[in-house]
Amino acid sequence: MKENPIILGIESSCDETAAAVICGRKLLSDEIISSASVHALYGGVVPEIASRAHTDAVDEVVARALAKANIQKEQLDAVAVTYGAGLLGALLVGLSFAKGLSFGLNIPLIGVNHIRGHLAACYLEDENLKPPFITLLASGGHTAIIYVKTETEFEVLGSTRDDAAGEAFDKVARVLSLPYPGGPHVEKLAREGSDTVAFPKMLKGLGGYDFSYSGLKTAVINYVHTKEQKGEPWSRADVACSFQKAALDILAQKAVEGALEKGVNTVAAGGGVIANGYLREKLTECCKKAGLKLVLPEKKHCTDNAAMIAAEGLVQYRAGNFSPLSLNAEASIPLR
Ligand code: KG4
Ligand code: ZN
Repeated sequence: MKENPIILGIESSCDETAAAVICGRKLLSDEIISSASVHALYGGVVPEIASRAHTDAVDEVVARALAKANIQKEQLDAVAVTYGAGLLGALLVGLSFAKGLSFGLNIPLIGVNHIRGHLAACYLEDENLKPPFITLLASGGHTAIIYVKTETEFEVLGSTRDDAAGEAFDKVARVLSLPYPGGPHVEKLAREGSDTVAFPKMLKGLGGYDFSYSGLKTAVINYVHTKEQKGEPWSRADVACSFQKAALDILAQKAVEGALEKGVNTVAAGGGVIANGYLREKLTECCKKAGLKLVLPEKKHCTDNAAMIAAEGLVQYRAGNFSPLSLNAEASIPLR
């Protein structure tokens, strides 16, 4: 087993077809072909369109990643691929492609849990990062505070009881007539507004490390509908700003609390919502105040990408966890 293997990562769980090559924790290339603009026409990801787009793009994106890394496929030591969670048809495209490479090149196949990939993105940001630390995970499907004991052992301290943070951004975006995916658009609009709408502090009400976003989302929807029905003026930018603050302050706060309680000196983060500039500032501020080190993946490694899949592939490679060619795609898998 090599200390610093060359690993190709492939991701196709949703609307991004991505491939990346790493050598140890060093990122050699990182390519994405996205079908997001097509899905935006429908207000959300259309599974059949996503599958077809992956089929069209996977060959090219892998070829590009190998070329940019200046690596011949025969030099690869393993191929890591997302096998879940995600859209089944979409996952099968990347998984089948990776199996073909694994079989043809006679190299190990490493099936990667997409969420573990989001957590592993921080290893590319800081080559020396070592557990234990606390990770704040906030994506379109998950929101959790996780105690990372070792690279392969986790304890979920708390998670959302209903909607994920990213999901709340997407739903609020819809109410504000912003396109899909909503997060970046809400963030942009929020920059033009101020925190003038007092959305209930229902997020604060939950003890421990749990979250609830459904109440906040409903409060935003009710606020907008009431204003419209009464014909009263209201500011879209102020709603975006107030919602964003209510949704994100609590994440930074609980991540820091988790680190202090567990006695670790580092907070890391992963998932699409971590690309949010306001949240990044808040995390920076809260960690600084508490004397904690913060590791934030680059914004492009927060949203879906293949670099994080290769990074988690490396974790599994070093642990000797390889997958059989019979590995199947799974629509939903726990963090394991
Ligand atoms: O991690 P990700 O790309 O896919 C999943 O695994 O779910 O996360 C996508 C989610 C979407 O809900 C999107 O609206 C949200 O991340 N997101 C953001 C931002 N960029 C993406 N939310 C808030 N602010 C952003 N800048
Ligand atoms: Zn994701």
